[in-house]
Amino acid sequence: MSTDLRTEIIKAEGVTKRFGGLVAVDRVDYSLREYEVAGIIGSNGAGKTTFFNLLTGYYVPDAGSILYKGNDVTRMTPQERVAIGMMRSFQLTSTFDNLSVVDNLVLSFFRAHRRSTLMHLVFNTCKRFRQEEKILTILETFDLQDVRDREVKHLSLGEKRRLEIAMAVLAEPEVLLLDEPLAGLAESEIKGILDVLRRHVGKQSILIVEHKISHVEDFLQRLTVMHEGRIIADGGYEETLRHPEVRRSYWQIDIEAEAGGSAGS
Ligand SMILES: Nc1ncnc2c1ncn2[C@@H]1O[C@H](COP(=O)(O)OP(=O)(O)OP(=O)(O)O)[C@@H](O)[C@H]1O
Ligand SMILES: [Mg+2]
Repeated sequence: MSTDLRTEIIKAEGVTKRFGGLVAVDRVDYSLREYEVAGIIGSNGAGKTTFFNLLTGYYVPDAGSILYKGNDVTRMTPQERVAIGMMRSFQLTSTFDNLSVVDNLVLSFFRAHRRSTLMHLVFNTCKRFRQEEKILTILETFDLQDVRDREVKHLSLGEKRRLEIAMAVLAEPEVLLLDEPLAGLAESEIKGILDVLRRHVGKQSILIVEHKISHVEDFLQRLTVMHEGRIIADGGYEETLRHPEVRRSYWQIDIEAEAGGSAGS
């Protein structure tokens, strides 16, 4: 495998998380580099979401550590990790359903960049900053111009998902975490999300968990497979999918029978 010289943004070392007797994440070593677009797949219950929750700080690992640019952040809260610009998960972005799309974006922008109280923002700054360049750009990138003045409660699921991701992106985190961004969306809406994600490749590191793996195939630079809490393969997309352990555990292909069959007589 070639050596990737890009800076390591996040490094998980021997990270373990147990729920009672169940080891949901089992001594996982993982690193994500600058501008890398990486995917994680794995069957239901493999530990993907738990691993995300360890990265975002929702869980503290029972063992192991998480480093951000070499600094130990294992015990930092999610808010502290967001505040240092480490990462943002689109599931963490709560929208205000009675406010318009553009005002949600303005709030997200200011919560990330300035320390004003929310109420102060709602009443005083939204109006002034609706034309802020960053907001206009993000409306365009995420194809939200047509619904910019619509209240969030009137958006389609696809539009709302685009807004959630846009709000996470506005915080300009080093890493954008997407746990099943396509879940629950119709094919027509999926295309819209993929278009905006594709436009975002190269602007920050993106880590994406997705069951609909073929949808993200063209822009993933790396693929990791989890199974029963462990990483069983990690590397380029094709190479990972062909890995014997992935074929056995993830695709449930009976390799011995196959080998026996091809060996023939
Ligand atoms: N809060 C919790 N309390 C107890 N057990 C949990 C908790 N969260 C997850 N688990 C268990 O940990 C294991 C890993 O779950 P996790 O949600 O991380 O899997 P996943 O890979 O995200 O699965 P899916 O593809 O279904 O989203 C599962 O066996 C799950 O039942
Ligand atoms: Mg999950």
